[in-house]
Amino acid sequence: MIWQESKNQNIKKLNISDYSSLIEIWKEAGFKIGKSEEKKEVEKFFNANPKTSLGIYIDNVLIGCILGGYDARRGLIHHFAVRKEQQGKGYGKALFDQLMNIFKELGVVKVSFWVKKDNTQVIPFYKKQGFILREDLITMSKEINDD
Ligand SMILES: CC(C)(COP(=O)(O)OP(=O)(O)OC[C@H]1O[C@@H](n2cnc3c(N)ncnc32)[C@H](O)[C@@H]1OP(=O)(O)O)[C@@H](O)C(=O)NCCC(=O)NCCS
Repeated sequence: MIWQESKNQNIKKLNISDYSSLIEIWKEAGFKIGKSEEKKEVEKFFNANPKTSLGIYIDNVLIGCILGGYDARRGLIHHFAVRKEQQGKGYGKALFDQLMNIFKELGVVKVSFWVKKDNTQVIPFYKKQGFILREDLITMSKEINDD
C-alpha cells in the first residue's frame, strides 16, 4: 500500500514528549525495555540523532516510530515498530523510506540493524526493502557504565 502524507497523517521528528507513547509501542512490539529505554537515555539518542528519530502520527497520535542511529558514516536502525492495529497499511514502509532518504542526504554508505532470533517474521519486510542476510557476522556486546 502506498502511504500519502496528508493533513491528518504525517511523519515528524520524535520529541521526548512522545516518550510514554514510545514505551507503549515498544512494549506492544515485544522489545525489551531496559536501561537504554529509560527516558534520559532515549533523550540522549534524540539529541545525538535529531534528524533521524522519526514518528508517524494519525490525528496527532503516535502510531509508529523508527530510530536511526548515525555515526558519520553508517546508519543503524533501532526500535522500528508500528502499532499492531495499524500494521500492514504502509506506515512502516513510509517511516523506513523517509529514514533512508535522510540517511542518503547525510551521505550514509551502509545501513544495518539487528533482529532477535525469535523475531524472524520481520525478515521478509527487510528483504523486500533490499537488505541481505549477513551469515558471516556474529554480534557481541558488553554492558559498561553499570551502576
Ligand atoms: C516491521 C513493521 C514495523 C512493519 O510495519 P508495517 O506498517 O506493518 O509495514 P507496511 O504495511 O508498511 O509493509 C511494507 C511492506 O512490507 C511487507 N511486510 C510487512 N511486514 C511483513 C511481514 N511480517 N512479512 C512479509 N511482508 C511484510 C508488506 O506486505 C508491505 O509490502 P508491499 O509494499 O508489497 O505492500 C511492523 O511489522 C512491526 O511493528 N513489527 C513488530 C516490531 C518489529 O519486529 N520491528 C522490527 C525490529 S528489527
